[in-house]
Amino acid sequence: MATFMLASTVALLFGQATASPQAQMFERRQVGGEEPDVVIPGASSYNGLNLVPQMGWDNWNAFGCDVNESLLLTTAQDMINYGLRDLGYNYIVLDDCWSVGRNESGYLVEDKYKFPNGMQDVANRIHDLGFKFGMYSSAGTYTCGRYPGSLGYEQKDADLWASWGVDYLKYDNCFNQGQSGTPKLSFDRYNVMSQALNATGREIIYAMCNWGNDDPFDWAYRIANSGRMSGDIYDSFNRPDDRCPCTEAIGCPWPGFHCSVMNILNKMPAITSRTMSGYFNDMDMLEIGNGGQSDSEYVVHFSMWAINSSPMLIGTNIGTLSPANLAIYSNPAIIAINQDTSASAAKRVWRYLVDADATGEGEISLWTRTMANGDRIVALLNAGNTTRTMNATIDEVFFDERTAGAYRAPPELSQTWDVYDLWANRMSEAEAGAVLASMNGTTVQVSSNSTTRFNATAMSYADGIKAMHPALWGQKVGTLVPGGRFEAEIDRHSVGVYRLKSQGASKAKRDEL
Ligand code: GAL
Repeated sequence: MATFMLASTVALLFGQATASPQAQMFERRQVGGEEPDVVIPGASSYNGLNLVPQMGWDNWNAFGCDVNESLLLTTAQDMINYGLRDLGYNYIVLDDCWSVGRNESGYLVEDKYKFPNGMQDVANRIHDLGFKFGMYSSAGTYTCGRYPGSLGYEQKDADLWASWGVDYLKYDNCFNQGQSGTPKLSFDRYNVMSQALNATGREIIYAMCNWGNDDPFDWAYRIANSGRMSGDIYDSFNRPDDRCPCTEAIGCPWPGFHCSVMNILNKMPAITSRTMSGYFNDMDMLEIGNGGQSDSEYVVHFSMWAINSSPMLIGTNIGTLSPANLAIYSNPAIIAINQDTSASAAKRVWRYLVDADATGEGEISLWTRTMANGDRIVALLNAGNTTRTMNATIDEVFFDERTAGAYRAPPELSQTWDVYDLWANRMSEAEAGAVLASMNGTTVQVSSNSTTRFNATAMSYADGIKAMHPALWGQKVGTLVPGGRFEAEIDRHSVGVYRLKSQGASKAKRDEL
């Protein structure tokens, strides 16, 4: 996909390496006494859960209301066979349309036609398969599919889900009775369920789905583990749709739906500092496999969701997954970024509009992100209509460090960085096809030194990175040297994603000082 070339530039600028405002935001401050009594946003998860983004599968994008227990259980078994559970996709989330109403005591009743053995049994069997179980409701009188909502019934519903063994709640925003329009109204309404979940005593991840309404980026980390930041995704790379009118996340009064991958992605840069361990900006479920985009567009979708620490919920029919789509969902080098304990979002360093044609404007952009161990991620995104050579200078890659002060160059600029192409070891069609052909009980084993596959149950992503596991590092394609830049040819509607590892601080010779 990407051809790698090296070049050099003399445009080396100097800046001081000081803690950025964002890094300072991630501290706990002690105000007297032993324990910190002020918790700075991002210092911890509000309930101690979800320190890295949740991963799993949700039925909505591919099946809508057409759900039943065998779909959930068959999907879970397929995900084991295909190695997806062991890549970290370990939540099975049941979306809308699962209940029939409330009983005389006010408790929700599951649809016995769709779930003949009852939800408790579904939860048990999902747990037995090594997954956690996610459930859906709405902070309104109805769900978006017009099933009973939880507004006014928060504690009853939370108690019922806890008794079933639910581990995750996706909580929607439909039919909210006008209790939205200000951050306070939304906060209060969503907080009732947050408190109710806590009161059950069960560890339940709380995934707010209020589509970014009332700027949850400012308040939801106090009560939830993730929050949708846009109207609903649809399976389009960049087609604008009038039903998704906002191009910015902040102050969007009408999030809507039918939001394209590029629409959602371009809403992220402004709220990048509001992604934090325990609270993730949810860019919505993945569409890979649903047929509306090209292979390279799906690679963009997957890559950009991953590097922005979005929850990664597969939104397609696992039973009909193609080898190419399995290969995308299974790229452990990209998932390792998403699951990195830095738990931050990428920054867009620059964006240019290019290639205007009848279908609209194309664009190219450069994104970077720091990993917990100091590695640097670089993404060269070509959402233009033609293949082009893109480049990133070392100054751009370390833009924030370079602009953090004015006295001394940050050390990163004088280091040499090995550059690894993280899509270079994508599973071939043949290998992915063989994995899909595996039958129940004859799962194709992931060998510990596979260059393409990884088992995160056997070895954590952090350990794999440390051990230079080949499946997590792709292929080394060059180095980025002080004063230099790197270039890569990026296909139309595609992205190059690279992991940069420092060779160590370079020892400046005396006469260079
Ligand atoms: C939407 C939500 C979707 C899906 C749907 C169910 O509001 O954003 O992800 O849950 O409701 O009706």
